Amino acid sequence: MSMARRRAALLFVALLLLFAASPALSAAAGTIVFTTLGRSRYAFDIFALPLNHLALSSSSSPELRLTDGISALELDSPSPSPPPTPLLPWSDPAALRDRPTLTRDGSRLIYVSTALPAAAPRRSWAAVYSTRITHSPAHAPRRLTPPGVADFSPAVSPSGDWTAAASPGAAGWAGEVQDLRTDLYVFRTSDGSRRTLLVEDAGWPCWADDATLFFHRRDADGWYGVYRANIDLSHDAPSSTSVERITPPGFHAFTPAASPGAPGLVAVATRRPGSDYRHIEVIDLTSGTYFEVTRPLAPRAHHFNPFLSPDGARVGYHRCRGSGNGGSPPLLLESIRSPAPDAFSLFRIDGSYPSFSPDGKRIAFVGLPGLYVVNSDGSGGRKKIFSGNAFPTSWDWKRKGVIYTSVGPDFASESTEVDVVAVSLGDDSSSSSSSSQVSIKKLTVGGKNNAFPSPSPDGKWLVFRSGRSGHKNLYIMDAEDGEAGGIRRLTDGPWSDTMCNWSPDGEWIAFASDRHNPGGGSFSIYMVHPNSTGLRRVVHSADAGRTNHPWFSPDSKSLVFTSDLAAVSAEPISNPHHYQPYGEIFTINIDGSGLRRLTHNSFEDGTPAWTPYFVQPRDVSETLQASGMCAFEDCYWLDIDAQPEDHGLRYAHGNKIGC
Ligand SMILES: *[C@@H]1O[C@H](CO)[C@@H](O)[C@H](O)[C@H]1NC(C)=O
Repeated sequence: MSMARRRAALLFVALLLLFAASPALSAAAGTIVFTTLGRSRYAFDIFALPLNHLALSSSSSPELRLTDGISALELDSPSPSPPPTPLLPWSDPAALRDRPTLTRDGSRLIYVSTALPAAAPRRSWAAVYSTRITHSPAHAPRRLTPPGVADFSPAVSPSGDWTAAASPGAAGWAGEVQDLRTDLYVFRTSDGSRRTLLVEDAGWPCWADDATLFFHRRDADGWYGVYRANIDLSHDAPSSTSVERITPPGFHAFTPAASPGAPGLVAVATRRPGSDYRHIEVIDLTSGTYFEVTRPLAPRAHHFNPFLSPDGARVGYHRCRGSGNGGSPPLLLESIRSPAPDAFSLFRIDGSYPSFSPDGKRIAFVGLPGLYVVNSDGSGGRKKIFSGNAFPTSWDWKRKGVIYTSVGPDFASESTEVDVVAVSLGDDSSSSSSSSQVSIKKLTVGGKNNAFPSPSPDGKWLVFRSGRSGHKNLYIMDAEDGEAGGIRRLTDGPWSDTMCNWSPDGEWIAFASDRHNPGGGSFSIYMVHPNSTGLRRVVHSADAGRTNHPWFSPDSKSLVFTSDLAAVSAEPISNPHHYQPYGEIFTINIDGSGLRRLTHNSFEDGTPAWTPYFVQPRDVSETLQASGMCAFEDCYWLDIDAQPEDHGLRYAHGNKIGC
């Protein structure tokens, strides 16, 4: 993706949008909070090194940090408040804008945007746009990608006449990250015309000159390799005259970067056997020499998405800045630009399965492991309630300081020992008491994967899922006394019903289920009355799709949830590891109308919750410098020996099968 030049795009787009007057804000009706796997630990900045330093292999580090300590990774953070009104009617202010490149004459910016929906579910919204920036007022962006098509990773040729992009094409995306297969297309930068398939099974194009294009591809031998294509643009139909693999098998090389100012050099990211870290190397194609750029400086850090400066003097890359290198502490709550600021504010929280207390003053969340509570304004910092593995969280509506959760392994089989518990914080209404007596009461018995408790608004009942019959179905039990106080079955069938949420008006229970294709990996959202009548499906993301973690709006008329409806928004290999980078947050009316996308990024967003309490849209920092800064993983599917299942089962937060 992205991280590289995204920051410039952010500034540019912000300028465009800020021409417009601030919208009139009516009182927002609530707040939505969600989780993004690992995101709060990224803290990326852009760094650069002089290329001539590499040959000298001197020990002093002339590494330069180009960005200022505000994470240079993602467009949707932090949001100005109030959010600007879009100047252009097509422009979703919350959309991702990525990979900007200026044409050589500086007249136009070419970039990826997710502003316009795709025509079908599970199709990416990413497409290439061109905005003329030398005219005032700015012209409307021009879409260069045809309707119904997605494009990633655009690269403008040195002359500016042609743009290459990676497109999933008709075969599209098969469902898992590593299954994203793209082909390279070129088209005229001016208007998208003469779009031509150049190389099949290729991604991340970059130009050395107008006749030489580099790209990456995962080969049949399992290794990512960098390739060179010689391009003939002299005819009506552009074509590649030869394609040649540059990097040998035996290690991964990907996300190549070239520059007309550095002929004969290609910068790549590599993952070499024996290293868990992604490093930048520069290849001298003439001599076949590989120069290590980042390993000598920071051996135990991931480096992403290199670039070579136009004059060929420097190689740049992204790295988490770490501690002692400036920048702010991680955010507990990161304000994300809400696409409907009159309806709700939107936050990413540094934890999983968040839920608000009924008065909105506190948030419970889990750390996988660990259960935590924090004041919604961040004051006092996070308080650890217990350290075992718990998921998810919900608060009793009537009894103050009572949180329901389930304790045991997540993503486990029907018979795994997991039980629903009520955690009483014992501090009644005061949120900062340190002398509180936490008590934990087990509500289910027998431990057959009892999880996802959600209380009825009158505080009398709990709906939860259980594997006690051999299948995961929904049950309702007494909220105070648990099973001992009475239990009845809500759903019944040889499939998985899970992730249930009871509406605030008491009328409905929403849940995720694979009942349309039991065991097939696809989940959709269904609703049923607490008396087992009225069952219907609300959201379905195509037959293989995943739509999970429903949570009712305060008025019970809509749901927030996570889904793969918009597929991926960038080549997943350009990011740290996300089990399911297609997870985005959406809302929909309970009658199935009014689908709205809330998040636009290339990460895994999941486990949303909705409170009537309005949290002002501003960032809230962790009070302590959290440990684990920069401690994120590289894409597990680069690990040739790894079993993807092992990783997938561990802690996906979005919509993994079998939650
Ligand atoms: C079931 O509950 C719904 C919603 O409260 C109600 O409209 C309906 O009449 C109930 N049906 C039965 C058979 O009790």
